[in-house]
Amino acid sequence: MAENERKKVILSGIQPTGVFTLGNYVGAIRNWDTLQEEFDCIYFIADQHAITVRKDPVKFRQQTVESYALTLACGIDPKRSIAFIQSHNPNHSQLSWILGCVTQFGELSRMTQFKDKAAKHADDINAGLFTYPVLMAADILTYNADVVPIGDDQRQHLELARNIAVRFNQRYGDMFTVPEGYYPKVGARIKSLQEPTKKMSKSDDNPNATVFILDDKDTIMRKFKRAVTDSDSEIRFAEGKDGINNLLTIYSCATGKTIEEAEREFAGKGYGEFKLAVGEAVADYLEPVRTKFAQLMDDKAYLKECWTDGAQRAFRLSNKVFTKACRKIGFVDYR
Ligand code: TYM
Repeated sequence: MAENERKKVILSGIQPTGVFTLGNYVGAIRNWDTLQEEFDCIYFIADQHAITVRKDPVKFRQQTVESYALTLACGIDPKRSIAFIQSHNPNHSQLSWILGCVTQFGELSRMTQFKDKAAKHADDINAGLFTYPVLMAADILTYNADVVPIGDDQRQHLELARNIAVRFNQRYGDMFTVPEGYYPKVGARIKSLQEPTKKMSKSDDNPNATVFILDDKDTIMRKFKRAVTDSDSEIRFAEGKDGINNLLTIYSCATGKTIEEAEREFAGKGYGEFKLAVGEAVADYLEPVRTKFAQLMDDKAYLKECWTDGAQRAFRLSNKVFTKACRKIGFVDYR
């Protein structure tokens, strides 16, 4: 790369709504780690997004700290990347207001996540839940991020962020980079172990449906032993075999083998044996994360140092873009 050429900016976030799931890890965070090698990376804990659903403040604060520690435990290097907590950089919510004024009510009404969450929390369909995707667009655009590594469930939100960027640029002149999504080839949508047509989610009521990345080996094995499969007996990736497809995907992600290699390895074997092998592979895969997490949680001073430094760097970077956007729309300059 030529010296004056800018490295691509990668950005992603995760909500601190409890321990991350195997889906979060496979669909997003493990890719964040590898992207650090090549790009300028910005990663944050989306605590402002999380309050769209009511939270107990004490528990929420603790979960945010744990989530920050978890991202470092998953391999995010706070020196090499910018790793911070969303509410520590006011530019996200400031820009969100501006972008909200170029976003249509109809666009937000079409967001499937809004519809799902509104149905689930019918007694608290707050304005934040509705405008959530605008804040997500601001998270991305305030750094002029080029690439956003996410799972499949965030695709619609990213499309909206792209539309908002294009519309702003058309109205006010070239301003925002139009971001590209980066979706893993395998594992962009890890499914529930109990209902393999649904995505694996932190908030599933069935405790056997979701693997959390801090689950111990016994728990992981128990969940995989109980994983739902089908009445067939062949271990192959095929239409209608959602449970087996999901297990093959998970096995492939945990071992680095392709789906075809996994199919060959288990040809002629029974579902019971296969489920145990997937459980073992996942337990081994997650073990280093658990160890690193425990070490980090023992050193809160270090964690605080990291997120403070991250917030300062994030602010400096985003402020350039934010100030330019303010000028473009005609706010009076004061700096
Ligand atoms: P969140 O916290 O729900 O999930 C974090 C990341 O994990 C991915 N993911 C999955 N991938 C595969 N299979 C699954 N079962 C699965 N479940 C979750 C998600 O796609 C996501 O990449 N709105 C975002 C957070 C956010 C954000 C942003 C992301 C806020 N601002 C800006 C990117 C850029 C969210 O709620 O993710």
